[in-house]
Amino acid sequence: MDAMRMVRPPDDAGPQDADGGALRPRLHGMWAAVAAAWGEHADYSDARGAAAAERMLELTAPRPGERVLELACGPAGLGLAAAERVAPDGEVVLSDVVAEMTSIASARAAARELRNVSTRVLDLEQIDEPDASYDVVLCREGMMFAAEPAAAAREIQRVLRAAGRVAVAVWRPRERNPWLGLVFDAVSAQLGRPVPPPGVPGPFALQDASRLRSVLSDAGLVDVEVDELEVPLRAGSFDEWWARTTALAGPLTHVLARLPEEGLQALRGRLRQRLAADHLADLEKARGELAQLADTLDLKVQERTRDLAAANDRLTAEIAERERAEARLLQAQKMEAPWTAD
Ligand SMILES: C[S@@+](CC[C@H](N)C(=O)[O-])C[C@H]1O[C@@H](n2cnc3c(N)ncnc32)[C@H](O)[C@@H]1O
Repeated sequence: MDAMRMVRPPDDAGPQDADGGALRPRLHGMWAAVAAAWGEHADYSDARGAAAAERMLELTAPRPGERVLELACGPAGLGLAAAERVAPDGEVVLSDVVAEMTSIASARAAARELRNVSTRVLDLEQIDEPDASYDVVLCREGMMFAAEPAAAAREIQRVLRAAGRVAVAVWRPRERNPWLGLVFDAVSAQLGRPVPPPGVPGPFALQDASRLRSVLSDAGLVDVEVDELEVPLRAGSFDEWWARTTALAGPLTHVLARLPEEGLQALRGRLRQRLAADHLADLEKARGELAQLADTLDLKVQERTRDLAAANDRLTAEIAERERAEARLLQAQKMEAPWTAD
């Protein structure tokens, strides 16, 4: 996407949450509380996000010498991958609103001995960087957590240079992400109210492709394209999935931590049942597909066997015919040269 320069919007007090408290600091605090778990699961988040990272880097094509800003970086697998592309003279700034997250990013950059990477604590809704200071902005799974995504889009547009590029990855609807949607549904059922509450950003806040497109276009970004990328999520067991999801899920982790033990057990039971039912349905579907495949294969084998038998018959007839012809020839030669001994 190319970008035009835009003026930064004036600050305001910002949205309030259901209790009348300032929403942003509370949300940011909830992310700070899960930062250690993001550090612990950094390799997992790199692996899960690898396909998205590859696509985002392909779309924005950072070149040697360029400046790249990663927003809402978490452990920063994406920005670290970009650092290799702009080296040796280009620079990557890894940023997150949570200082604990940028510390993890910084330690990971140091462990890789990347000299062209620095970190900054930045709110993606109010990017404290000069106008037109970056060639590329990247934000994977972060923009939907902004209290006002339109403000974030305007800020991204402002810090981009002319001919700058931005790639943003957000989640599609919860039906397409049952691994997380199910937890939200079950927690909402458990609490008897929607989670997240209306007006509070959550992972599916930008699920609607047309909304995302207009948030970006209305900010002045041009050549906006929204497409879908399938990212399979695999877990070895229910417990592994539950432990990881609930450790990393930011504001959701905060809600779960406040559930009484029996509520949490009931929730796990409900999810286990639901996942088992989904798993069974998947298995049934796979079994049906396999049976269909076996039928098709069986038909193909029968067809091939018939073809081979026909080819064999033709060959046998051809050999017999050739033998008869040779016998006739031999007979004729004998008649022409009666002196030949048998
Ligand atoms: C789901 S994690 C994604 C982390 C990382 N981008 C990745 O793909 O692995 C969301 C991240 O957004 C950050 N975040 C939430 N609100 C933010 C804001 N307003 N500005 C910057 N970062 C924010 C959180 O601290 C967290 O690191």
